[in-house]
Amino acid sequence: MAIQWYPGHMHKAKKAIIERLKSVDMVIEVLDARMPASSENPLLGKLSSDKPKLKILNKQDLADPERTALWLVEFQSRPNTNAIALDASDRQAAQKLIAACRALVPNRKGVDKPLRVMICGIPNVGKSTLINGMLGKKSAKTGNEPGITKAEQRLFLADDFWLYDTPGMLWPKIIVEEGGYNLAAGGAVGRNALDEETVALELIDYLRRHYLPQLQERYQADKNESSHWRDEQWLEWIGRRRGALLGGGRINYQKAAENTLTDFRDGHIGRITLETPNQWEQWLKAAQRREAEQKAERERRKAERKGKAV
Ligand code: G4P
Repeated sequence: MAIQWYPGHMHKAKKAIIERLKSVDMVIEVLDARMPASSENPLLGKLSSDKPKLKILNKQDLADPERTALWLVEFQSRPNTNAIALDASDRQAAQKLIAACRALVPNRKGVDKPLRVMICGIPNVGKSTLINGMLGKKSAKTGNEPGITKAEQRLFLADDFWLYDTPGMLWPKIIVEEGGYNLAAGGAVGRNALDEETVALELIDYLRRHYLPQLQERYQADKNESSHWRDEQWLEWIGRRRGALLGGGRINYQKAAENTLTDFRDGHIGRITLETPNQWEQWLKAAQRREAEQKAERERRKAERKGKAV
């Protein structure tokens, strides 16, 4: 896919995470409840397999509640893992988070044995907002530009609760193509790294197949007629509805795409989750099959070249 998003500072972020993992008792991973699997760092699971994990499905206010419930069950079925759904408007969010950490590692308490927690998440997932809530004041920096690295910080929530904040990061290779598009739709990827029209069309494709009534409602489309529309027709309609027009009444597709993505990110299309555990499993299997085929093909060519050279 045409999304390139691994700038140099992300290598540093990865190194910082590997280093910090050595000295923490547990790991919080903040996920986007609208795309829990896409926003889950595939490296983190491997790097921290022995640590208790708490998965936070953040922005649950924007996600489909039925699907959030499915994802919680999925994460909770994993060994040594708990999962909770939160959102920034939940006044109890910070307390729920702290309580869940304490419950996961009950033996670490008191100044001699502080609970040392590392918190990770992709850019823009709401990590700073949650940390601010836990600290009870505005001290962790928040911002909407994905990919800005902050130096790792150690924050003292209590004498016996230390929180290590790591820079928001994505990973070098996203093998599940649908996951890459979901991350882009959610705004985890810097604007100049993606073609917004392609991302918007992929988003529309999923929405018209799984959330058609919400799409029709948001953009006031005729229910019978629009149920047969293709993705491009939807984008054109959205462009017209949102006044994304060029001279002569032509559609400004770039603007229409931006409008679609903003509407999704702000929850204006409804509470939407772009993947279920079953869908993700299927996408992952297909991606792994593709990867294996590509690898076999590379090896075949290599052997062929070697054979010719002899
Ligand atoms: P980060 O540290 O992970 O990069 O994310 P950050 O906390 O900066 O949050 C990114 C954006 O997501 C912020 O919006 C924040 O308000 C919003 N956000 C965080 N958690 C939630 C949540 O649970 N639900 C919803 N709906 N939004 C959430 P922003 O537009 O950048 O800033 P502002 O609106 O806070 O000014």
